[in-house]
Amino acid sequence: MQKKLKKIAVDTNFFLKSFIKHQKKTDLISPMQYGLLPGGKKIRSKILIDIGSLFNLNYKTLIKIGAAIECIHAYSLIHDDLPCMDNDRLRRGKLSTHIKYSESTAILAGNSLLTMAFEILSDKKIMISDKIKICLIKKLSECSGHSGIAGGQFLDLSFENKKTSQKKIIVMATQKTGKLFSFCCAAPAIIKNKDKNIVKFFEKIGAEIGLLFQIADDLIDYRGKTIKAGKKTKKDHKQGKATLISLLGYQNTIIYAEKMKSKIINNIERYGLKSKNINETLNYILKRNK
Ligand code: IPE
Ligand code: IPE
Ligand code: MG
Ligand code: MG
Ligand code: MG
Repeated sequence: MQKKLKKIAVDTNFFLKSFIKHQKKTDLISPMQYGLLPGGKKIRSKILIDIGSLFNLNYKTLIKIGAAIECIHAYSLIHDDLPCMDNDRLRRGKLSTHIKYSESTAILAGNSLLTMAFEILSDKKIMISDKIKICLIKKLSECSGHSGIAGGQFLDLSFENKKTSQKKIIVMATQKTGKLFSFCCAAPAIIKNKDKNIVKFFEKIGAEIGLLFQIADDLIDYRGKTIKAGKKTKKDHKQGKATLISLLGYQNTIIYAEKMKSKIINNIERYGLKSKNINETLNYILKRNK
């Protein structure tokens, strides 16, 4: 699993570097690359490739689409670390982008990564039809904006230090993190022109995987070491974050996550042998320490 992730990271970063090389040289390129390239696990790309394997999709095409997803993810992390949000100085084992550069630079580099994702997706070099590209762009926009990452981040901040129900916590985590995973799982079905119900099925699986990923991230914050995680741990409690751990406790959250994992695995099994790829990723998601 680690080897596979490593290869995906190398291939994705190679594509992103060469894409950026062909862009106009500006002063924002360096902070953009700083927040984008080194250190990320590329777990979203791995999920995209796992689901893509169920549909026999081309690896190189998936790497390019994954690269667009990773740009949006990197933008969301750069903004997540800003003083007006989680106020974190460390990310991926190095200084957060706003500490290394400045707050305004981090905001603008984040914005530029968000829009670069759509430049990548609409690029001629991705060998899928324009009609499907438009569907992907529409879906990715929905997953990133007010009903996706941005909306979920808004809820995350507005729930700080407030008693929040389990239902609300799940809605928030599903938006801020689940939605981008929804896109990773739905994209292969969209590319294969599958009917609406199949796309919906994969969107739902993706949202559940994303929720599971966020719960695992919260568990890492609770038990993890800053040096291993590459970001400051034991912060969620101090910041009054509404998480399942804050509501159910650490042990019950582990039980909740294990149940969720089994449910997802059962649901995906009908897709035959290749579903083992996604199973290994789900196991990794819960076991990792970064
Ligand atoms: C961290 O995401 C933020 C969450 C959505 C929980 P990752 O753990 O995927 O971050 P990187 O890309 O590996 O740094
Ligand atoms: C971030 O969640 C979710 C995003 C969509 C950026 P967290 O705030 O828990 O992520 P970390 O722990 O800082 O990586
Ligand atoms: Mg946050
Ligand atoms: Mg954070
Ligand atoms: Mg976290």
